[in-house]
Amino acid sequence: MKSDNQQKLRADRVWLTEDACDLNDFRALAEKVTALADYPTASAVERNVLIYDSRTVIGAASTPEGRRAILAEISEAFGIGPGVVVFKHAYEDTGIIDRASTIFDEIIEEQHRTSTGGGDHFAKPGANDRIWNSLEKHCLADPENFARYYGNAIVALASEAWLGPHYQMTAQVNRVNPGGAAQSAHRDYHLGFQSSKVIEQFPAHVHRLSQVLTLQGAVAHCDMPLESGPTLFLPHSQTYEPGYLALKRQEFKDYFEQHHIQLPLEKGDVVFFNPALFHAAGTNRSKDIKRVANLLQVSSAFGRAMETVNREHMSAKLFPALKELKNTLSASEIANAIASCAEGYSFPTNLDRDPPLGGLAPKTQAQLMYEALAENWSDDTFTKALVEQAARKLS
Ligand SMILES: [Fe+2]
Repeated sequence: MKSDNQQKLRADRVWLTEDACDLNDFRALAEKVTALADYPTASAVERNVLIYDSRTVIGAASTPEGRRAILAEISEAFGIGPGVVVFKHAYEDTGIIDRASTIFDEIIEEQHRTSTGGGDHFAKPGANDRIWNSLEKHCLADPENFARYYGNAIVALASEAWLGPHYQMTAQVNRVNPGGAAQSAHRDYHLGFQSSKVIEQFPAHVHRLSQVLTLQGAVAHCDMPLESGPTLFLPHSQTYEPGYLALKRQEFKDYFEQHHIQLPLEKGDVVFFNPALFHAAGTNRSKDIKRVANLLQVSSAFGRAMETVNREHMSAKLFPALKELKNTLSASEIANAIASCAEGYSFPTNLDRDPPLGGLAPKTQAQLMYEALAENWSDDTFTKALVEQAARKLS
């Protein structure tokens, strides 16, 4: 009898179900108040969300110990804290954003002209314009602007705080036109994109794993007053373990409707949030604001990103631009741009052809790029080396 009971308790621990989600359990977690005193580098808590002044963060990260401390602070903000952080003025030079916006507008116009561009999950057709894989399209269209844009210290710091090094950057532009309706409340990739039937097949530790495999971000490409519909968030909701299943239930959707918060953003601000946070894009009630955000989805080195990205092609295109910018961008800005472009992880590979040299991991695409930059290789030499490296990884 006792062992039957043990087996039932164990099954309930391991197999989370939509039926077992409990709003009172959820409220006990989601109604936690964010205390500014717990986050000494933050400048404010607004509507339960941590607000950081980007210049203060970069100053705090200027020594190795300071950087470890601020990475830890932000890591906990995403994990056990509110789950969402606003970095004010992450792009002090908004000229970088404006140039990227021009590139995105051209890509959207081209999509309209040629009737390409895909559908959208979570939104009705026509309400918005999407650029899937804006990362690669941006890099190929203007590698110099890409280097400045992804050289950003805050983007790199937030990504590293949650995912560690060698993360895989992907990005998608969302331009929500006036009248564009709100999304439904959701969690994001991985488990956030599955039905309850599928989600219930994964043991509980995989629910916990899903949220550490990616980080969500949004770069504001224009001022976003509340009427333009910046993202709706429910701070602390990422801490509810069965949350991927809970959002399929009406009482959780209703709770989100009643309790979500929204913060206005300025051009150049960046928001990062745990992919397990309950959130949804807001309704654009403005008359004339096309709300443009570049949505960063950063994946762990150990996970599989949502989009395929031709990093070999991008690296070949970025390399000449980085050579030109060597004296303009700082070494860490160049490193950040490389981290957003080249593959930073050695695996999977073919260890017969691509053996580790002087360590346990074979050379990465990013390491190849560093080497080529340091030794000032010609573009052709680097492109050839990229092709050869890719070939060595094949089985
Ligand atoms: Fe989302």
